[in-house]
Amino acid sequence: MPRYFTEQNSEEAVNGRMGASTDPRLAEVMTCLVRHLHAFAKEIHLTQAEWNYGIDFLTRVGQICSDERQEFILLSDTLGLSMLVDAINNRRPPGATENTVLGPFHVDNAPVRQMGDTISLDGKGESCLFEGVVVDIQGNPIEGAKIDVWSDNADGFYDVQQLGTQPKWNNRGIFVTGKDGRYSFVGIKPVSYPIPDDGPVGQMLGHLGRHPYRPAHMHYIVSAPGYETVVTHTFVGDDGYLTSDAVFGVKETLIAPFEKVSEGQTLWRSPFDFTMTVA
Ligand code: BEZ
Ligand code: FE
Repeated sequence: MPRYFTEQNSEEAVNGRMGASTDPRLAEVMTCLVRHLHAFAKEIHLTQAEWNYGIDFLTRVGQICSDERQEFILLSDTLGLSMLVDAINNRRPPGATENTVLGPFHVDNAPVRQMGDTISLDGKGESCLFEGVVVDIQGNPIEGAKIDVWSDNADGFYDVQQLGTQPKWNNRGIFVTGKDGRYSFVGIKPVSYPIPDDGPVGQMLGHLGRHPYRPAHMHYIVSAPGYETVVTHTFVGDDGYLTSDAVFGVKETLIAPFEKVSEGQTLWRSPFDFTMTVA
C-alpha cells in the first residue's frame, strides 16, 4: 500500500486504506467506484472549476429533495442509470413482459376496484378501455394477479402533483384477476408530459440540449404469488417522444395498440397481455 498519495497511485492509495473487516460486498462496490471515479477524473483532466461546479450541482440536487420530491432519482433516471440497474436486475426470457422505470408518482394502497371500473375521476381526456390477460410463460392464465395502475390526467399531471385540484386517487386503481386471468378498466388515453424540470436536473437537461418529456404511457405493477413482479408501462404507439424519452424507459415490446372504437362506451381501446415468469 502506498504511504503517500500521488496522481499515479491514487486508486491504490484510497482503496488500500480499506479495513480488513469491511463487509465484502461494500468493499467490492467501493473499490470499483473509486477505480472508476479516479479514472474518470484522469481521463478528462477534471479542472478544479469543473469539480467545484459538480459539488455545487450535487448540493443543489440534495437541497431540492423533500418528502414530495426526489431529485437524485430524477438524476439517476435522466442519466439512464435507473434503467440500467433495472435491466441488470430483471433479465427475463423472450416473451416475458419487460420491466421499465417505476418513476416517482406511484402511491401505495390505491383503491381496489371491480373489473371494468373507471379510474379516471376528473372527467377529462379521451376515454380508453385497457384490457388483456395475465398469463405465465406457457400462456396459462394467472388467477389472483394484482394489477396496480396509474397515469397522468389529460393535462399531463398525476393527482399527487395537483393535490386539491384533482380528485384523490384520480387515474389510479388496483384490479385483481379471476380464474380467467383477464383484466379490464377504463382510463384515459395518456398524454406525454415533462418530468419535473424546474430544478438542477431540468437545468442539466437544458445545458445538454435535451427536452424533459416522457412519451404518453400507462403505469403498471403486476404481481402474483410465486411470480416475479413486473414494474412496467404501456406506451402509446404514435407518440412523438417515443425515441427521445427523457428517462430512456421505452422498450419496443411495451408499445401497445391504441385503437379508435366505433361502438362501445370508450373512444379508444388498448389491448395488452402481461406474461409473468416464476420467481
Ligand atoms: C414517470 O413516468 O412517472 C416518471 C418516471 C421517471 C421520472 C419522472 C417521472
Ligand atoms: Fe409516468
